[in-house]
Amino acid sequence: MPRKIIHDCDPGHDDAIAMMLALASPELEVLGITTVYGNVGLEHTAHNALVVLEILGCKVPVYAGADRPLVRERISAELVHGNSGLEGPDLPTPTAKLQKQHAVHFIIEQVLSHPGQVTLVPTGTLTNIALAMRLEPKIIPAIQQIVLMGGSIDIGNWSPSAEFNILCDPHAAKIVFDSGVPLMMCGLNLTHQTLALPERVARFRGLGTPVGEFTAQLLEFFRQHHKQRFGWEGPPIHDACAIAFLVRPELFKTRLYNVEIEANEGLAYGRTVCDYWRVTGKAPNTEVGLEVDLEGFYDLLVERIGQYR
Ligand code: BDR
Ligand code: CA
Repeated sequence: MPRKIIHDCDPGHDDAIAMMLALASPELEVLGITTVYGNVGLEHTAHNALVVLEILGCKVPVYAGADRPLVRERISAELVHGNSGLEGPDLPTPTAKLQKQHAVHFIIEQVLSHPGQVTLVPTGTLTNIALAMRLEPKIIPAIQQIVLMGGSIDIGNWSPSAEFNILCDPHAAKIVFDSGVPLMMCGLNLTHQTLALPERVARFRGLGTPVGEFTAQLLEFFRQHHKQRFGWEGPPIHDACAIAFLVRPELFKTRLYNVEIEANEGLAYGRTVCDYWRVTGKAPNTEVGLEVDLEGFYDLLVERIGQYR
């Protein structure tokens, strides 16, 4: 039985690659794609999800969700993803339309109709998930797992302490991390291992398919910021880690830790505070990704993306 997931995202170059992997993986059944503001505004992220589906030739319902954080002012990452959020390749005009239902209502409806069987995969900020938990707390014990891209057990990327997705809405992240739902976290300490170096990008281009070429062009644009800011020869494919973990968990080394969110403004605002040395005595609440088998990760991506014609 494929595992039912809802991919909650803010496409976004790496979100787009995560979508590709999810939709080409028979291990997963994508019930729907929900979008949230994040890398760019909601109007762009929702549109971009439709654009990616158009390119893939997949029909999956897309639901737009929150357009702003719960409490703080909105931040965004045009600097990384360009003004549209998906800068680089030529993009088609999507034929499909957004669903009328709000993303948060869709999440609640699906979790309650398949109790214990729906895994949420947020690869953007956690506002939609937190809103769903607040609006209908009955979903909390009914969510199978939340496998997310966000946070870090060491360095941040949007502040010295914090990773972008969590910093976008630390209060939402606090609701999710304190919820008691089994969490798996793909933070920067893991995702920064996945740099799409030129020889890896060449594997996507070498597929000789439009989707292989699209992937290569996404990664080439995404590289620019990472070269400029971090001096890296390729960008991390952060968001695909969360999907890859669900498809091939054996590629990942993980460990259980207590992780809490710093939601007070200050130097550590938005930090996922991981009790690595178990000094607090608090019970672990998060399976934290530590290492990924890079060859296996890229083999999986190339194989699955190669299935699109
Ligand atoms: C995360 O932030 C976004 O820019 C990416 O899509 C990823 O989800 C990495 O910090
Ligand atoms: Ca993202």
